[in-house]
Formats: sequence, C-alpha cells, structure tokens
Amino acid sequence: MKGGMNNVVLLVGIPFVIYAILALLMGALPGWVLSQTPPAPGVVPLTAQQARGRATYVAEGCAYCHTQQVRPLKQDLVFGRPSVAGDYAYATPELLGSERNGPDLSNIGSRQPSDVWQYIHLYEPRSLVSSSIMPAYPWFYRVKEHADRGDVVVAVPPGYAPSGRVVIATQEAQDLVAYLKSLKQVPLKGAVKR
Ligand code: HEC
Repeated sequence: MKGGMNNVVLLVGIPFVIYAILALLMGALPGWVLSQTPPAPGVVPLTAQQARGRATYVAEGCAYCHTQQVRPLKQDLVFGRPSVAGDYAYATPELLGSERNGPDLSNIGSRQPSDVWQYIHLYEPRSLVSSSIMPAYPWFYRVKEHADRGDVVVAVPPGYAPSGRVVIATQEAQDLVAYLKSLKQVPLKGAVKR
C-alpha cells in the first residue's frame, strides 16, 4: 500500500516539476528578457488619448486585417524600414497582426498624416478608395442637422454623405485617428532607405 502511494506522488510530482521548469524557460523567461528591451531612440510612450485610440483599434479588430510589423524583405519596404524590437517598447502587447488584407500600419502616421483623410476613410473607405474591402465604421460618427461649436465636421465626399446633414467625428473617432497618426517609425541609423 505504501509503495503504491509513492508511485502516485512520483507520477504527479515529476511531470509537475518538468512542466514548471519548461513553463519558466519557454514562457516566463523569454517574456521577461524581451520586456527589458530599451525603446529605440526617439520612441515615446502613447499619450492618454492615443492609448484610448489603441484600445478602440483592438476592440474593432483592425489587427485582423492590418499588421504592424515590417519584415526585412524587399516587398515590405513600401511600408517603411524593417521593424526592430525597440519600436515596440511602449506598445505591449504588440499588435503585430498576421494577415495583410490591408496595408501594414507601422508607419501610417508618416505615410498618411492627414486627419481629414483618416476621418473620411473610416467613415466610408469606398469614398476614397473605390475598390476597398475595408469595412465602414459609421458608429464612430454622428449625423446631425447642423454642426455645433467645437464639433469636428468631416467633409465626406458628395454621394457618400447623408444629403443636407453634417457628419461629426465622435471622441472615439478622434482618439483612434490620434493613435493612427502616432504610428510613425523613428529613423534608425543604418536602416534601409525607402
Ligand atoms: C476586412 C479587413 C479590414 C479591416 C477589419 C480593417 N481594414 Fe483598414 N484597410 C483594409 C484594406 C483592404 C485597405 C486598403 C484599401 C483602403 O485604403 O481602403 C485598408 C486601408 C487602411 C488604411 C490606409 C492604409 C494606407 O497605407 O493607405 C488605414 C489607415 C486603415 N485601413 C485603418 C484601419 C483601422 C483603424 C481599422 C479598424 C477600425 C481597419 N483599418 C480595419 C482592410 C481592413
């Protein structure tokens, strides 16, 4: 009877110790080492507004179609220079993405710095890119009879705007666009030029 109990302790105990060691080595340790990566020179933390925009980006699933990682490959150079670990120092968990149904957004703030363009595009991508398959996000906007003081009016192209009414960017839209504009790669010495 006593021997039997010992076997149970060994049977449970040995795998437990092995799994605990593996979990530390393969899960915890790499995460800890990576979290020590210093920011690349010029990389700054998000402002409170940009961080709210990032939360919306996550909630709306933008990362299902957009990557934020430029690979060191020739075909990726249209998106910017190859990404480095220090780019993500303040962007954890990283929104690397795995599908590129749309363009990589690592450097969209430099490529498309116009908030007017971003507002119109999010309201209805087809109004700017006729063949776009990106969903429209009308719930980021309010449609009103006329603008009030302080409203951010979006100049939606004719044919896409509700006629005789104005489209207003909500705080959520403003935060998301602030986040998109913050996505700018810092120049790195020795990085491949576009
Ligand atoms: C179903 C896939 C899909 C989803 C989801 C999606 N997009 Fe897109 N996105 C695209 C495609 C395709 C394009 C290229 C055509 C265009 O510009 O509309 C694009 C283009 C863009 C561009 C312009 C990129 C450039 O280089 O000109 C931005 C900015 C953008 N998307 C932001 C977003 C944001 C923010 C979200 C979430 C709110 C989002 N996208 C969700 C597919 C998607």
